[in-house]
Amino acid sequence: MSDSELILCLLPSVIALLLFSVLIHRRQTHLNLPPGLSGWPFIGETIGYLQPYSATTIGHFMEQHVARFGKIYRSNLFGEPTIVSADAGLNRFILQNEGRLFECSYPRSIGGILGKWSMLVLVGDMHRDMRTISLNFLSHGRLRTHLLREVEKNTLLVLGSWRDNSTFSAQDEAKKFTFNLMAKHIMSLDPGEPETEQLKKEYVTFMKGVVSPPLNFPGTAYWKALRSRSTILKFIERKMEERIERKKEAGERVEDDDLLGWVLEYSNLSTEQILDLILSLLFAGHETSSVAIALAIFFLEGCPRAIDQLREEHLDIARAKREAGETELNWEDYKKMEFTQCVISETLRLGNVVRFLHRKALKDVRYQGYDIPCGWKVLPVIAAVHLDPHLFDQPQHFNPWRWQNNGRASSSSGTGPSTGNYFMPFGGGPRLCTGSELAKLEMAVFIHHLVLNFSWELADSDEAFAFPFVDFPKGLPIRVFSHSQ
Ligand code: HEM
Repeated sequence: MSDSELILCLLPSVIALLLFSVLIHRRQTHLNLPPGLSGWPFIGETIGYLQPYSATTIGHFMEQHVARFGKIYRSNLFGEPTIVSADAGLNRFILQNEGRLFECSYPRSIGGILGKWSMLVLVGDMHRDMRTISLNFLSHGRLRTHLLREVEKNTLLVLGSWRDNSTFSAQDEAKKFTFNLMAKHIMSLDPGEPETEQLKKEYVTFMKGVVSPPLNFPGTAYWKALRSRSTILKFIERKMEERIERKKEAGERVEDDDLLGWVLEYSNLSTEQILDLILSLLFAGHETSSVAIALAIFFLEGCPRAIDQLREEHLDIARAKREAGETELNWEDYKKMEFTQCVISETLRLGNVVRFLHRKALKDVRYQGYDIPCGWKVLPVIAAVHLDPHLFDQPQHFNPWRWQNNGRASSSSGTGPSTGNYFMPFGGGPRLCTGSELAKLEMAVFIHHLVLNFSWELADSDEAFAFPFVDFPKGLPIRVFSHSQ
């Protein structure tokens, strides 16, 4: 093809592209978009937005943008025009209007690694069906009858391996605890068994890929994670086949008291859907809670007064149990852990395990005079609200006592709406975390046995960073001292 023929061929596409950008530009100039910057072509401001920063702050990028443009600004992130919201009211509005004005919209790479049937990426009816399964499985009833016992057993298993005056990574120990718990709850895998350990090893590689750039070529973390994903899926599939085989042999219903048994028995999901559901629950239930426990260990270490008050609360519970001749924690004991709940809320507020959510606008939306165009990405930054000095007194300060007012923190002005309305560590609306009650139970039971049996100090300086996933770069090394009750 000659040069002139090539130009003739390409000309209509170039003109169409130009016209399209002129139309988009015209439309945008008629809209009252929030102020902001577009950044570089294609990458926009993504690199600045993802720069690591201390997890108890909103980071330099966000601070600068909020100071310059206000709590609602426009940007270009993850390759798309985006509205970023650090505004408590807008965040709430976005989450409450899921499926009507906004919709969950995680980057494609997340779907690539967690699977297209993962709950994080599904929308509409399919999301609703998967959510129902997850809610049933994490129901209040199951927490009381099954999970509390398992949570305590797994806590004691981890804490029982800690020796007086020993040093180790608190983050690794928290991960061990939440992984063992989820593996048991989802597929009845026992801690320490070779297959559980093998799965854990694959899972570590998998996790590194979930949080790394989606560059799929040999040697990258993402590429290795995709390989681990298929090994993990083969493992789960093998477990499924064993179950089906066992049922055939027994010639009757075999009730397996785990998620796998439950979906095989009661759901119409395909194999592919079951695999993605299990993988995404393992991910959602393990990573978040372990970071939250590590954060609690970290914040408490810097707040001896809170440890003293916790110890008092848990000694009372332990004493009453001894007198009643009971050993295992029950639901009534859990309900007595009032100050512990304040510590949990404060840990989640200050540590912000999940910092922002991914949404897109389904329609043109007008909010407080600003236009959010249909199709634009919208990022409600929940961390920015939890660290807002207008809503929380000295937001960078770990202060569990702020939650003592019926579980709602007092607002910094003392006159405004209760900040409990804006406290959203588990998201909100129709996608509110289905594991929130389990996560709080895990934290409370872990704290119960931790403060009763140990004191601890940081063995090396470390602090939580947002990468934006929250992580302790050195794994939070601690030295523990056991003490008799
Ligand atoms: C401290 C621990 C946890 C935190 C901070 C947390 C936070 C969140 C947040 C913010 C969301 C909303 C995501 C969105 O709207 O895009 C979410 C969703 C979810 N979480 Fe959690 N989570 C925690 C623990 C758990 C646990 C223990 C489980 C399960 C065992 C779990 C399972 C889920 C599931 C299945 C979803 C998706 C819900 C849906 O799409 O309907 N999470 N979590």
